[in-house]
Amino acid sequence: MTTYKIALIPGDGIGPEVIHEAVRVLKTVSELDPKIQFDFTEYPWGCEYYLKNGEMMPENGMEILSDYDAILLGAVGYPGVPDHISLRDLLLRIRHDFDQYVNLRPVKLLKGAPCPLKDVKREDIDMIFIRENSEGEYAGSGAWLYPNSEQEVVIQNGVFSRKGCERIIRYAFDLARKEKRSLTSVSKGNALNYSMVFWDQIFNEVKKEYPDVDTYSLLVDAASMFMVKDPKRFGVVVTSNLFGDILTDLGAAIAGGMGLAASANINPEREYPSMFEPIHGSAPDIAGKGIANPLASIWAASQLLDFLGYKEWGKRIIDGIEIMLEQKKGLTPDLGGTASTSECGKTLTDYLK
Ligand code: NAD
Ligand code: IPM
Ligand code: MN
Repeated sequence: MTTYKIALIPGDGIGPEVIHEAVRVLKTVSELDPKIQFDFTEYPWGCEYYLKNGEMMPENGMEILSDYDAILLGAVGYPGVPDHISLRDLLLRIRHDFDQYVNLRPVKLLKGAPCPLKDVKREDIDMIFIRENSEGEYAGSGAWLYPNSEQEVVIQNGVFSRKGCERIIRYAFDLARKEKRSLTSVSKGNALNYSMVFWDQIFNEVKKEYPDVDTYSLLVDAASMFMVKDPKRFGVVVTSNLFGDILTDLGAAIAGGMGLAASANINPEREYPSMFEPIHGSAPDIAGKGIANPLASIWAASQLLDFLGYKEWGKRIIDGIEIMLEQKKGLTPDLGGTASTSECGKTLTDYLK
């Protein structure tokens, strides 16, 4: 038997609602397979915590988290606290300081999931996005000069290091090789004459080490068009932090919606804990109503099981989600159902059992 220490950060809005269903699923896995045990500790960090304490997490928050095997996070950000404070001081801080430089986001249309695209077969939408997660446009480098004056200027720098680009591109190539899929690099060298020219150059350098992998390079504007018009051309996709953020919301839209989009923030060296979360936010428009779709968080729990080496269980969870979608059982309103968040989670655990 192995016991994994999992830190829970439910966060804001629908975060707690959905994350508790992911925990329900993991507890069911332990019941069914007692050799996998979890020791969960919940931390109340987020916007409410900020309003009480003036900080998003305690000063030694990162030290506390470093003790865990993994982190499961709901969502961060809520009206009342500026987003650039709440996100930078909690979610983005964890991604950066734990060097979770891989953000792996599956864009896969499951059987039975709704798709707004016409003339697209289910198998045509099956991509794995590898989003750079530690630097790039999110580096937080810049300045705000001469505020409130006529000379006011703001500068937001993109930071693209050789180490940062090489490691994410190499990770994507290794994955494409392992999965026997093509690899598409998405960039914007025609306009971003430093960062993206550098990215393309490094992609072409690393490519030489992987002659067995089919590669494509697309500009981000064209890539977004092809995701809608011809999604089957994509297998593994590697891109920068901001482009990956935007394209994976588009990915969510074509693969069942925000309620089905999961994300793993991985530190491949396992020097620090990795973090698993839905890609959606705190959804203030539906928070507190008990109707948020927990399947994205449950999919993130499946990614967590994959990461811990229990791929069979990871797959059983996805199979369970597919059965629910096909039978239209236990689905929340965003997927056309009438189930509550907890009924949805419970339906899945019933299937697992
Ligand atoms: P959002 O993802 O919270 O919501 C966008 C839309 O999708 C809303 O209409 C919402 O109701 C719907 N939606 C999202 N998740 C859903 C679910 N599980 N079930 C059903 N419907 C769902 O994005 P937003 O409104 O742009 O952002 C709200 C807040 O969340 C902001 O503070 C933002 O910064 C933050 N945010 C946080 C994260 C994160 O923590 N990872 C991600 C995105 C946004
Ligand atoms: C996501 C979110 C975050 C991001 C925000 C909340 C900072 O949109 O995980 O996709 O941009 O990475
Ligand atoms: Mn996003």
